[in-house]
Formats: sequence, C-alpha cells, structure tokens
Amino acid sequence: MKVLIVGGGGREHALAWRFKQDDPTVTLYAAPGNPGIAELATCLPIATSDFDALVTFAQRERINLTVVGPEAPLADGIVNRFRNEGLAIFGPTREAAQIETSKSFAKQLMRDAGVPTARALTCTEVEHARGAARALGAPIVIKASGLAAGKGVIVCETLEEADRAIDRMLVQQSFGVAGSEILIEEFMEGEEISVFAITNGDWFFELVPAQDHKRLLAGDRGPNTGGMGAYTPVSIVSSQIADEITRRILQPTVDALRARGAPFTGLLYAGLMLTRDGPKVVEFNCRFGDPETEAVLVVSRPSTPPLLDIMLAAARDEPCPDPIEMHERGYAVTTVLASAGYPDSSRVGDVITIPSVPDDVVVFHAGTRRREDGALVTNGGRVLAVTGWADRFDEAQKKSRDFAARVEFAGKQYRTDIGWRELERQMAWNAGAS
Ligand code: AMP
Ligand code: GLY
Repeated sequence: MKVLIVGGGGREHALAWRFKQDDPTVTLYAAPGNPGIAELATCLPIATSDFDALVTFAQRERINLTVVGPEAPLADGIVNRFRNEGLAIFGPTREAAQIETSKSFAKQLMRDAGVPTARALTCTEVEHARGAARALGAPIVIKASGLAAGKGVIVCETLEEADRAIDRMLVQQSFGVAGSEILIEEFMEGEEISVFAITNGDWFFELVPAQDHKRLLAGDRGPNTGGMGAYTPVSIVSSQIADEITRRILQPTVDALRARGAPFTGLLYAGLMLTRDGPKVVEFNCRFGDPETEAVLVVSRPSTPPLLDIMLAAARDEPCPDPIEMHERGYAVTTVLASAGYPDSSRVGDVITIPSVPDDVVVFHAGTRRREDGALVTNGGRVLAVTGWADRFDEAQKKSRDFAARVEFAGKQYRTDIGWRELERQMAWNAGAS
C-alpha cells in the first residue's frame, strides 16, 4: 500500500504516525512533509498548491491513496483534479469544501437541514450589518464568511465593538475578499468540543471527541491562536450527547450536502458548543483539526480494520468496513510548543533540542526544518506538538506537560494547563465519590 500525504504540519505527522503504527509495511510519501514526518515517509519537495506535480507523482508511483491535510488545496479543488485523473484521494471536492470555505453557505445549509446552530444574518452592507447586530444584541459574534486562517471571527462584548469589527471587515477590508460577506451571529455559551467523522458522503465513522485550547496563555487568557493544545476523550460528552450529535448534526449535514449534489467525502470536522439547549454548531471544517488530530489519533485506534482502510473506503465510495472495534487507550493530552512572537508573528531559525522521548509520549513536528548542518530549527508558529497518553487523565496531562518543559528552543511558548476543564471535572467526581 502506497500513501501520499499532502501537507507538512503536526496533523500530517500524526496521520503518518497512525498509519505506520497500524501497518508498518505501508509506504508513505509526504509533500512537502517535515523533519518529523521524514522519519516515517519519503518527503518530496512539492508544494501543496502544485497540483500538476502531485498528480504526476501519484500516477508515476501508483499511489493507492492521497490524503489531504490542510484546507487550502481542498478549497482550490485538489480533489476535483485527482478524481478527474481517476486517482483515489481522501478529502472533499471544492463544492463540498464550501462547508468550511463559506460560512454563509454552511449557515444556509444548516438552516435548511434544521441543524442546531446560532442564529445569524449574512450581510455585505455596513448599515444592514449594524442593524443586524442591534437586532440580535450584545454579546455578539462577527465573522468573515471566507477563509481567514482562523482569524476571521471577532467575539464582541458590546455593540460598539461590533461596529468596529464590522468596519474592519466591510470598510477597511482587513480580511480581503474573505470579509466582503460577513455573518452577524448570536453568541452561544458553553463548552466547545471538536468531533471528527470520516465519511463517503453517505455513511460516516466518528472518532472520539476532543477539546482544543485556542487562547495563547494558561487560564484561557491572551490572544486566539490556531490551537495551543488538545485532549481526548472529553468526559462531558455522554452517550446521550454523542447520540444527539450523530442524529441532529452529522447525519442531516452529510445528507443535506448529498442532496445538493455535493456529497462530502473525507473528514467532516464539527466544532460544537455544548449549550444548555444541547449541542450546536460553531463551525464546520473540511479536514482534520490541528492540534486535535495529534491527540485523537494517538488514543483512538480502530484496529480492525485500520484507520487507513476506513479512509480508503470513504475515498473510493465503498461500504464502511465492518466490523469496527475501537481500542481506546485511556487519555491523550497534546501540548503545543510555539515559537517566539506567536501568534502575531513567528521567529524562525531557533535551534531545537529534544531529549530522548519516553514510550508513552510522541513528539509531532509542526513547524520545524533541518538546517544544512543537520540542526533542527523552528520554522513556523506552532513548532512541535507533544502528546502524552495514559490510562488516567491527570497522568496523560503530566506526561505531556513534563516533556514539553524539557524540549528546548529560544522563545518557546506553551501552556501548562491543557485539559484544565477535564481535570476539574475529574477532581470534582473523585471528591464526590470519596
Ligand atoms: P470559528 O473560527 O468559527 O471556530 O470561531 C473561532 C472561535 O470563536 C470559536 O472557537 C469560538 O470560541 C468562538 N465563536 C465562534 N462563534 C461563536 C458563537 N456563535 N458564540 C460563541 N463563541 C463563538
Ligand atoms: N484546531 C482548530 C482547527 O483545526 O481549525
């Protein structure tokens, strides 16, 4: 089996790791990959946007499955292109990827399908947008409809802040075309979770829910980032809530996309708010989340058949392999190590030292590069993702945090409290039980 992974971050490293764990005989390629992935795969100097070179490589090497990590090539139609060439690829077409690339498309789809989500109005005119904000009232969320690298969402405490956010998007055009259409959205209160479902557009297979930590600093303070850490499973997701997510959110969304002639193949990521009125959609993404994947793929092991077989069946539009046994190995906690200046900027070129890694820790490379002299250096905002796992949550958290502390590079930033909500919950239960 030959697999080509498109991308070069922590998520792609975790996919490569999972595939090799499940089947050491699999042959992996990555474009462009990174120094961590290079230990498991042959890395190719091909950009994720160079579809011609990717197709040529997949044809020449007779790749059985291409797996796409990031959203940008999906938005640009990499799946349409591969399919036209008769090549198997895991990911949605450009049309189905709109569930992430256009928040107004996603909102309309949810409205039509009756999927629970925050009320929202779509606007392109300033006066209309201000009126909509007043109709919904503060606190309120202003969102650029298009892709904005995770920065196009502004949560506003007051209407004055909302007016400024509207101005930034529609007048100053700070988000370019992504912000030429905006959503004025009701604020939802609750705890956020990320749910991943592998789907062929008809059946779907859910992985264990995870929780991301978007703020830079411990205690959920500081600016928003791409994600400073994650853990899984999330114990507040009871079987009743999980069932509601399947029935009221995933199933109708997948059905609605198929009914529109844009069946979703690949990984559907539901970002959910667990509100008092039940789970509601915050956003959909059309690919694996980062850093959640670095936790989820360590702890959830559908071993009969392996993850890759399920992904292959989805890509080829074959029935979901059956029977599926889940082997969950306790808890996984992932701590992200970010570079100096992140998230506003990211300093590159700081030398990284990684001590020898214990058995129950995996270090995924996100933004790293090998210098010509062989030294490993920082090469992006999120540099490494350190995942620890254990039967108990507090042990997994400690393993991740302790090893994160031991990795060295100048300007390293990381949170020491990933999974604090889970820890509080478990401590409260233990106190109640004793
Ligand atoms: P998104 O890019 O849509 O995931 O939004 C980024 C973050 O903004 C989310 O992870 C939430 O923390 C927050 N957010 C987005 N929409 C809402 C909402 N309607 N209510 C409360 N928080 C939200
Ligand atoms: N962790 C959030 C995302 O991947 O979009």
